[in-house]
Amino acid sequence: MEAGEAPKNDLLGILLESNSGDHGMSTKDVIEECRLFNFAGQETTADLLVWTMIMLSLHKKWQDQARQEILQMSMILNEVLRLYPPGILLGRTIEKETKLDEEVTLPGGAQVVIPTLMVHRDPKLWGEDVNEFKPERFADGISKATKNQVSFLPFGWGPRFCPGQNFALMEAKMALVLILRRFSFELSPTYTHAPHTVLTLHPQFGAPLIFHTLQDQ
Ligand code: HEM
Repeated sequence: MEAGEAPKNDLLGILLESNSGDHGMSTKDVIEECRLFNFAGQETTADLLVWTMIMLSLHKKWQDQARQEILQMSMILNEVLRLYPPGILLGRTIEKETKLDEEVTLPGGAQVVIPTLMVHRDPKLWGEDVNEFKPERFADGISKATKNQVSFLPFGWGPRFCPGQNFALMEAKMALVLILRRFSFELSPTYTHAPHTVLTLHPQFGAPLIFHTLQDQ
């Protein structure tokens, strides 16, 4: 960069630039940011893709609909993110004593966990069919599906909301469209449904899939 050879207008360039002055980020901060973006961006999107492939294998009707009509994809992805949110919880540390309302005061140093997965699967919020794959819930958007409550938070909520949401959804749609145009797919009989968390939620034994080339391609 000092030799004028590195681009300044990509993410790394911006981070490095802010590292060059007296006040900017420290080198350690820049490295941590790169690590965060790499982790936060890669595993999560890979999980979304693999769960979508699994759901579209189990629900052929939606696989066909997604193939015919790309507009269906947003509701399918939202329903996958509801049932299988890659980040199953949000954690916060309470810095100093914080009064929430008359009855609840959180002490400084307390850890608070918002259990995204459990909120997404709460029948009181979503109805008795909460555990079923029904993308049509999202046919009229997220606020209709949630009745304007904060009951769908796969990308978090508030000031630390995921900055990669639009990028991730765009990337997932592009990858899926390419696959759907060329292949139909189904789960191999060896597939075992075992959602499992090691930092993010993924199928513990992978997702063996059988692909069939589409005739007219
Ligand atoms: C399906 C894909 C993704 C999901 C489900 C997801 C989910 C989340 C969630 C739940 C948070 C909030 C964590 C918290 O509040 O404690 C978050 C934060 C973040 N995500 Fe994503 N994410 C995805 C894709 C991406 C991508 C593609 C990028 C970058 C290219 C990205 C970058 C980040 C960063 C940098 C943060 C931290 C923001 C902050 O702390 O201010 N994410 N993500």
